[in-house]
Amino acid sequence: MPALVLEPTPEVLARAVAAWRAGEPVAFPTETVYGLGADATKPDAVRKIFIAKGRPADHPLIVHVAPGDDLARWAAALPDTARRLIDAFWPGPLTLILPRSAAIPDAVTGGQPTVGLRCPAHPVAQSLLRMFGGAIAAPSANRFGRISPTQAAHVFEELGERIPLIVDGGAATIGIESTIVDLSGERPVLLRPGQITVESLSRVLQQPIQPVTGRDSTVRAAGMLDKHYAPQTPLRALPGAALQAAVEQAVRNRQHVAAIAWSAPIVTPPGLPLFKLPPSPDGVARGLYDALRQADRASVAVIFIEQPADGPDWAGIRDRVRKAVA
Ligand code: TXA
Ligand code: MG
Repeated sequence: MPALVLEPTPEVLARAVAAWRAGEPVAFPTETVYGLGADATKPDAVRKIFIAKGRPADHPLIVHVAPGDDLARWAAALPDTARRLIDAFWPGPLTLILPRSAAIPDAVTGGQPTVGLRCPAHPVAQSLLRMFGGAIAAPSANRFGRISPTQAAHVFEELGERIPLIVDGGAATIGIESTIVDLSGERPVLLRPGQITVESLSRVLQQPIQPVTGRDSTVRAAGMLDKHYAPQTPLRALPGAALQAAVEQAVRNRQHVAAIAWSAPIVTPPGLPLFKLPPSPDGVARGLYDALRQADRASVAVIFIEQPADGPDWAGIRDRVRKAVA
């Protein structure tokens, strides 16, 4: 039976929570991307997430909590840095890596001694988490290595044959995954850029935040694999000024291509898909994954995408475009 895709009525929320209590996975909306959630304290329930996604078992999952939840249930220690970031940015698109408590099983963390905690801002996610009263482990609700879903229909495309229920909370308002900061070591380390920038984190912590080097990192983070968030069609990033010429060259070569742009004033000939996103970092983040998904479906030979600008506000977008191109 394919998944049911249901609006978040009280009955549907109750049904989703009942499924979680019964150890079943349910997809639900967050403000970043849709998650595939299961009871974080039940290893068998968590394993169903890995099976549905086809994700290697050593890739740790983010654990979602309701606003005001007692974090001592899930984290063995809450350093002052965590308190400050939580006060400033929760609920919201920020995941904190902290030492895990005994309630968080190896199945969630891939055996690591840490846990990623996030309190989402989406009202439907918050209602579900409050009703459930516990912690929900949830990676993005896509098959392993594919583009994260920002709409219920995307989740259905990815996992519709593999899970029972998708709660439809509309299109994600942020559109790229949360910023991840590791607070389990001596100094805060950025594991994944996102809408909350390193600059704003540093300002709150009043100290610089190191980007992860990879070399000395013992952390296995799925978002750090080179090929990730990727469409199946070859994708090429080009400076805005070079996009138009690249499209025209492809057309001369009788190649069917698609283009994704935001600040470049590009036009494509009739029949070639063009996705124009709003030219702000927030606007691009919101539309990026849907555009990649639609372009991927358009059976073109190549997708051209505008190279994101330099500058701190574009770091999350640069990271996702780089990974999608890799
Ligand atoms: O916005 C988001 O973060 C979304 C929504 C659903 O909350 N979730 C998400 O999950 O993007 P996922 O599994 O697709 O990416 C989680 C990232 C992975 O790169 C994972 O390795 C890393 O977080 N992560 C989770 N726990 C970790 C830990 N204990 N140490 C290091 N990295 C961790
Ligand atoms: Mg993911």
